[in-house]
This record gives sequence, C-alpha cells and structure tokens, in this order.
Amino acid sequence: MSTWIDVCSVDDLQPDSGVCALVAGQQLALFYVTKTQQIFAVANFDPIGKANVLSRGMIGDIAGEPMLASPLYKQHYSLITGHCFEHADIKIDTYAVLIENNRVAVKIEAE
Ligand code: FES
Repeated sequence: MSTWIDVCSVDDLQPDSGVCALVAGQQLALFYVTKTQQIFAVANFDPIGKANVLSRGMIGDIAGEPMLASPLYKQHYSLITGHCFEHADIKIDTYAVLIENNRVAVKIEAE
C-alpha cells in the first residue's frame, strides 16, 4: 500500500541541488529545480556505483528532460521516469511529490 508521507518544508531543500531524506526507512534524494519550480524525489541508491550517493549528483536537463548525473560514474538518470540515459535496462525508483502549504510530501510504499 502506498501512502503520502510529509517529509520536510520546501525551505529545507537546496535550490538546484539535492538533499537526502530517510523516509519510511528508505533513503530518498530530493531535488528542487528552481527554473520550473518542481521538486523531484528518487531513490538515493546508485545501482551502478552501488552506493547511496545520488542526492550529491548534479542536476540539469537532456533535451528538456530534467535529469541528475551520478557523482560516481556520471551516468545520467531522468528525474521523471528514473531511467538511465546510457543503460536502457537500468532505472532508479521515482516517487510522486506533492507540495502543499510549503510542505513536501512523497508517495511511498509503506509496509
Ligand atoms: S558523493 Fe561521496 S564523494 Fe561524491
């Protein structure tokens, strides 16, 4: 079952950068893209580098699609779908984000 979990205030996020949050026992990487005023939540675990580092990645876009670059081996992951631009068979988990009254909530599978 998935539920919305209140994570933090919008002000807790770093503009155009990432922060890590432990939500329901899972490490998430949250990115606040100021240009489009969007917040994205993805898994913090880099499946290629095999470490919890994605919140340290640089963000940008590839052909208009918001993406993050792993700080380890620089693969690029879509912030929307989680797919890896270089490896079609690899994908990171993405989570729906809701912003309400300056609070950030993430939809996550809770046990
Ligand atoms: S994320 Fe650890 S050194 Fe860059």
